[in-house]
Amino acid sequence: MQLYPGIEVGPGGELLVGGLKALDLARTFGTPLYVYVEDAIRWKAREYLKELRRISVPADVAYASKAYLSLRMARVAGEEGLWLDVASAGEFFLATKAGFPPERILFHGNNKSPEELKMAIKNGVGRIVADSLAEIKRIQEIASALGRTQAVLIRVAPGIDPHTHKALATGRIDSKFGIPVYRGAHIEAVRLALKMKNVRFMGFHCHVGSQIFERRWFELAGKTMGAIYEDCLKAAGVFPEECDMGGGLGVAYVPEDKELSIGEYCEALVGSFRDRLSNLGLPMPRIFIEPGRSIVAQAGITLYKVGTIKRLPSGQKLLAVDGGMADNPRPMLYSAKYRCLLARQAREGQLSYRVVGKNCEEGDTLIEEAFLPMVRTGDILAVMVTGAYHYSMSSNYNALPRPGVVHVYEGRAFPVVRRQTYRDLLDEQIEGTDRLALASNMGQF
Ligand code: LLP
Repeated sequence: MQLYPGIEVGPGGELLVGGLKALDLARTFGTPLYVYVEDAIRWKAREYLKELRRISVPADVAYASKAYLSLRMARVAGEEGLWLDVASAGEFFLATKAGFPPERILFHGNNKSPEELKMAIKNGVGRIVADSLAEIKRIQEIASALGRTQAVLIRVAPGIDPHTHKALATGRIDSKFGIPVYRGAHIEAVRLALKMKNVRFMGFHCHVGSQIFERRWFELAGKTMGAIYEDCLKAAGVFPEECDMGGGLGVAYVPEDKELSIGEYCEALVGSFRDRLSNLGLPMPRIFIEPGRSIVAQAGITLYKVGTIKRLPSGQKLLAVDGGMADNPRPMLYSAKYRCLLARQAREGQLSYRVVGKNCEEGDTLIEEAFLPMVRTGDILAVMVTGAYHYSMSSNYNALPRPGVVHVYEGRAFPVVRRQTYRDLLDEQIEGTDRLALASNMGQF
């Protein structure tokens, strides 16, 4: 039985990941462990490209690397013909170290430092998504000093609240991101960019939010961007060549979540933009979309080993695993819901368990209520849909070493990110005479 693409229940009831037994992966690579079915990532990437071709608009898909980035992932994105969205010079650094072509990278951020901008421009970044008027000027200064002309998109906050978790709604007029579409501020930004000799204005960018399930917010975003392009032509006299519409497609973490398909999402977001422009007799700019979560989330699971099992006075059974909020902060941050299965018997059972982590915090609950067969200490538990914003958001809280990452591809499992060791924790500490030597080394660039 298939649970997610590439993740299924085998004939003996065991959990299979890319055709391999989850139990064997846990034994070989240890726990906690992030495991990806690489084929599933590639399928999603292809699905996006196929759906965009189907609605026949010139379009590119920039994978939002904040969802999950490793050298291997950057290579997968490159091989599948994607662009990459990075949100810091660190992500840019990793991506280019993987050999990802810098000219296919979009650089985001509401507070890029001058050093970050310099690093990106110097290394030939494809687009910078400018977040403010001040940043447009800063890009001009840096590009001019480097003797470059930099292609720039201007991020707008279009005033759309997509009714997702508050922390994930980025399209509102008072968002910390972008230039609000308010009293012509976005047109002022265009005029400024057009005046800058070393800035090439390519178009607008918007990203209304993340983990969105309702089609209407994407339609509204598409229509609103259409109006902004019309505005720009009328008020600034230019019709931009490109439009970046962000990501945001919601993913089902538990069976109750009802997700849109990639096709429905592309049609709602890009189709509504296209229709709006064609009604006005305007041409279609080249489109970028920036999916992150929907490309990697369901391709990933986390394997844990079960330790202590307790019965509470309330009768509730508590099952503690060898990871927790340090490798998955999402339940704590967004009240995110998950489903888990036993690796040896991957089906729902009759027994109710609260799955907690080992971090020293009472709120460190991964799953409030999981229905499982009888669980024993030493069992391997697989939490589903952990491919997006897990490894990338993991921390060393309680000095827990960060788990490793393994990809399964073409029937073979291989490590992609090494599990941290206690040595890694020690290596970043500065003691005694090292202090002086390292003081000059604190800047990253
Ligand atoms: N483009 C921009 C400019 C973004 O800010 C984001 C996500 C994306 C694209 C990708 O959105 P996606 O397709 O993944 O929804 N840590 C949170 C999610 C934060 C999203 C930040 N921006 C979580 O764990 O749910």
